[in-house]
Amino acid sequence: MWVIPLNQELLKQIENVVGEIYSISKLEEQGCTSIVQKISALSGNFILKSSSEDRYREWLETEAQVLKKLVKQTKISVPHYYGFIKEEDKSHLLMSFEEGISLTTALEHANFQEKLALIKSFGSFINQLHELGPINSLNHDNNWLDVQLKIAEQNLEQGGVDGNIQLLDKLISHKPLPVKQTVIHGDCTTDNVLVIHGEVKMFIDVSGMAVGDPRYDESLAIGRLKQNPEYLNAFYEGYTRYKVSNDEYSYFDEGLYEFF
Ligand SMILES: Nc1ncnc2c1ncn2[C@@H]1O[C@H](COP(=O)(O)OP(=O)(O)OP(=O)(O)O)[C@@H](O)[C@H]1O
Ligand SMILES: [Mg+2]
Repeated sequence: MWVIPLNQELLKQIENVVGEIYSISKLEEQGCTSIVQKISALSGNFILKSSSEDRYREWLETEAQVLKKLVKQTKISVPHYYGFIKEEDKSHLLMSFEEGISLTTALEHANFQEKLALIKSFGSFINQLHELGPINSLNHDNNWLDVQLKIAEQNLEQGGVDGNIQLLDKLISHKPLPVKQTVIHGDCTTDNVLVIHGEVKMFIDVSGMAVGDPRYDESLAIGRLKQNPEYLNAFYEGYTRYKVSNDEYSYFDEGLYEFF
């Protein structure tokens, strides 16, 4: 994993936003597609999320655009957007530092009862998102699933995905009956929510946030929980609005997600 050298020009651009920088440190928790660093500065603490590969740079830019659209609203809890900087070979997203740990890490450190409480909280947090109603800045005219299938096709052509052409053809010809579209996270795993004071309180990694099919979030969310019936029950104590069928689950978590 590369340690990111911040050149003078980049530091200057960041300081224009955050004020004098006191320290920069790499976070203990890292994702797969970026390097995240904490910046302590005159006006507070910030996260610099940086990517160097083309595909990941695109995702990062999309994440920046989503966060920017959400700056003025308070209904969806996400980090505050402070800026996006493109260099020749890297891109950087500057956002607020949030005091929390990913749900994945929180679950690793929890006892059984705490795990159930965390999973229930995950369910109700997603339930809340799906029940929000329209957020104007996220609205669009496209059919979300059709767009995803197009992107899946492009990703397959570019390579580096788990799915194959047979699976994609099946997904295109066997679309599930539509349900009401809602705001969705779009990569709704335990890695991409933060636990703050014992509860799931914030979405991170929001490049896929859009008005889309809530069954995608639900399926990804239960993907790592469904082997354990008690975990799955706990999730549905929080997520009460809908239960995906086995076919719907397979379509999304074992199907569409294979191309992302
Ligand atoms: N705004 C934030 N405040 C505090 N910590 C954060 C913030 N954003 C990200 N993190 C930390 O950085 C880690 C990685 O973040 P994120 O999921 O956005 O990166 P990623 O590289 O896109 O991950 P993925 O592997 O899912 O692509 C998170 O698990 C979290 O611990
Ligand atoms: Mg992530």
